Amino acid sequence: EDPAALPGPLHGKTVTVTAGGTREPLDPVRFLGNRSSGKQGAALARAALDAGARVRFIAAHMDVPAPDGVELTRVETALELREAVHAAAVDSDVLIMAAAVADFRPDTQSNTKIKKRDDGADPVITLVRNPDILAEAVQQRSKAAAGTARPALIVGFAAETGDGSADVLDYGRQKLKRKGCDLLVLNRVGTSLVFGQDSTEVTLLSPQDSESVPPPSYTGTKTDVAQRIIGRIEQELEAALP
Ligand code: CTP
Ligand code: CA
Repeated sequence: EDPAALPGPLHGKTVTVTAGGTREPLDPVRFLGNRSSGKQGAALARAALDAGARVRFIAAHMDVPAPDGVELTRVETALELREAVHAAAVDSDVLIMAAAVADFRPDTQSNTKIKKRDDGADPVITLVRNPDILAEAVQQRSKAAAGTARPALIVGFAAETGDGSADVLDYGRQKLKRKGCDLLVLNRVGTSLVFGQDSTEVTLLSPQDSESVPPPSYTGTKTDVAQRIIGRIEQELEAALP
């Protein structure tokens, strides 16, 4: 490190990043999971470190290592992720929810391995909904006294395909509204796009967007895109200063 270097734009700020995919256990050897690689979350953590932030990194299952220099918390399930996020959020300036959180978990977890039975009574898995961690963080913040509300900036992610009833941008705008976050990073996904890939295309949506101006989109490696997102976060934090 260059001792003469100027402090980065996020010097003095704490940024919490969640990354990877949660795993919801069925029994001691099996789980329900998803294809999140954790690459985008890791790239965001690196970009935030490069900008001078203190970074708390809450990692569910990842295909890549957590970046050096973060304060690392490992989690497995959505419920564990929720606890870690709520503990970190109260003293974070920014919360970035890049993790792929399982929407559902098996309603029960067997303490012993589920075995095939000779009578043909195959198991049925009943799923229950996981809490919406992002929406909860927004709700928690809204209860805090004015001026003390943290994190100042809450960033959500959405991966959408679009379908017959709405396109990707419509779904993104609906999700931004539903979650109540300050910024939504919208990914266009197909079966071969985004998951595990190094290159990606994102659109940044904010509640202040005007309907007539197209929201900014960036294409590039996950590292390029992460730098753009962190750049936007720097701007938003500056604009939010009293
Ligand atoms: N998220 C969360 N808790 C959940 C599910 C999602 O905090 N239980 C967060 C994700 O980390 C992401 C954002 O919410 O930042 C959007 O996730 P997404 O799966 O796109 O949204 P859902 O509300 O689950 O909607 P969908 O039915 O489209 O999956
Ligand atoms: Ca979901």
